[in-house]
Amino acid sequence: MNRGIAILLSGSGRTLENLFENIQAGHLHASVEIVISSNPAAYGLERARRHNVRAEVVAPAPGEPVVTYSNRIFDLIDSLPCNLVVLAGFMRILEIPDRYLGRVMNIHPALLPAFGGRGMFGHNVHQAVIDSGARASGCTVHYVTNDVDAGPIVEQRVIGVRDDDDADALAQRVFEQEKLAYPRSIQLHLDGKLQIHGRRVLRLP
Ligand code: GAR
Repeated sequence: MNRGIAILLSGSGRTLENLFENIQAGHLHASVEIVISSNPAAYGLERARRHNVRAEVVAPAPGEPVVTYSNRIFDLIDSLPCNLVVLAGFMRILEIPDRYLGRVMNIHPALLPAFGGRGMFGHNVHQAVIDSGARASGCTVHYVTNDVDAGPIVEQRVIGVRDDDDADALAQRVFEQEKLAYPRSIQLHLDGKLQIHGRRVLRLP
């Protein structure tokens, strides 16, 4: 089984660093073939280089249609031995070409299908959870489809919202759960143990 992954990010790359740590510790059997950033200033690029991983910027041109931008990214990944594309804090909308459906994963910092959709990333998500009065939050790993944050769910981890939580405190505890959920889900995919049936993802023994 090909264990190559491509990682797409836009920011600090904490998620990328967690994946590197899991690979180094032998908990995740994957090889990061490339890191692509939509943002030339993303610190995640620096983290990739420090791990001797190819780091590329593919920034959208002003007014560039989503489909053209997405094709530039997926055409680049086509040239590499990648079994899975991992979104790790990637803040642009993508159009997934048919050949990549079921091969792109995302992690979202809330319990989808609540608190997702356009504009729902990072801090905004946690503030929306607190403002809603919800007593639980968590993270969701899902396959990416062309409906934003609505693809088949692979894994969710749940935590309680505390009375004294603000968005930053909640984000920190959710991120601890993301660190567990994402490597596990990626490993299951690379081991061929996930099967998509409509909106559901079944786990093979
Ligand atoms: C993570 O918390 C992830 O859940 C979130 O971005 C953070 C990773 O960024 N993604 C989204 O909000 C996607 N809608 P980082 O690794 O650059 O810190």
